[in-house]
Amino acid sequence: MAQKILLLNGPNLNLVGERETSVYGSESMASITKSITEYGENKGIEIEADQSNSEGALIDTIQQARTWADGIIINAGAYSHTSIGLRDAIAAADLPVIEVHLSNVYAREEFRHKSLIAPACLGIISGFGRWSYFLALDALIHHFSANH
Ligand code: DQA
Repeated sequence: MAQKILLLNGPNLNLVGERETSVYGSESMASITKSITEYGENKGIEIEADQSNSEGALIDTIQQARTWADGIIINAGAYSHTSIGLRDAIAAADLPVIEVHLSNVYAREEFRHKSLIAPACLGIISGFGRWSYFLALDALIHHFSANH
């Protein structure tokens, strides 16, 4: 059976492609999602993608993922830096979770240097634009094979 991954994007990531293009690039999130989904299909991985601007909805989606997903790739946007609730949801999910950022958050404002969700995640990939998502998927696939 194909492994299933939740690809979850948080606040304002629906605007990628239009928003601060010098930081986040001009490709839309819909286009990035389409190509990562195809990339996953070629590797036998099913990707279910979701996005919400609201913290509670993201927590609900992570809680539901406990019942069907084998892993999670999450770009929690600004909530990465603020949300204990998301961190607790990730810890409760008991799934391998990779935190992703399009931009290199450590090269930006100091308030972005701290991630509250990172300690509950397997690892972080930050700064590679759209490729951050692909690298995260490769990292999860490696994790699955290493822990088979
Ligand atoms: C981001 C980085 C966050 O600091 C910011 O709030 C975002 C996007 C990224 O993908 O680079 O919304 O998560």
